[in-house]
Amino acid sequence: MQEDLEKVLFREPEIAKRLDELAGQITADYRGKDLTVLAILNGSLIFMADLLRRIPLPIQLDCLRVRSYHGGTVTTGQVEFDRSALPDLKGRHVLLLDDILDSGHTLATIEEAIRVEAKPLSVKKCVLLRKLKERAIPVEADYIGFDVPDEFVVGYGLDYQEQYRNLPLIGVLKGEESGARSEESGG
Ligand code: IMP
Ligand code: MG
Repeated sequence: MQEDLEKVLFREPEIAKRLDELAGQITADYRGKDLTVLAILNGSLIFMADLLRRIPLPIQLDCLRVRSYHGGTVTTGQVEFDRSALPDLKGRHVLLLDDILDSGHTLATIEEAIRVEAKPLSVKKCVLLRKLKERAIPVEADYIGFDVPDEFVVGYGLDYQEQYRNLPLIGVLKGEESGARSEESGG
């Protein structure tokens, strides 16, 4: 699999070190609070598993399966998920987890739906990666693993056509132009 990469951005030890730091920050910020982590699937699966095991707090964990639709060179901005699958978040502080902040559509759409429909005490966002680019929706994450260039990255949960999620490192695929995707991607 690794031979399909043009370059490696982050290897396992570097990712592990950064997760230790992020987990420390989150633990300090949410100690004594009722925290529900809402992980956006499939992209945040590996990140979620590795991050949450580093946080020694009695977290409630829920997952939301989301599909984003990409057409041509940019995301279409269509974000679909089952609103009836939203957990009960009354009286809870919510931390949304996603693999990557790209156009901003996914996190903005889900955050808005949660605020309106589930009325939690607070909502924050945590992403493993943040793409350095101008976003279609001006959304910022509260916790960020790494900044990455505006290229298509895979591994550690991130896919290209549902492949490469199990790659233990994060890299850029060979012969792939930045953002030039025509696909439907599961989170
Ligand atoms: P958004 O454009 O911020 O809404 O991101 C939507 C989703 O697109 C993310 O949760 C990822 O699943 C996917 N995505 C965006 N950029 C990449 C990438 O470089 N590699 C793999 N998936 C990506
Ligand atoms: Mg995806």
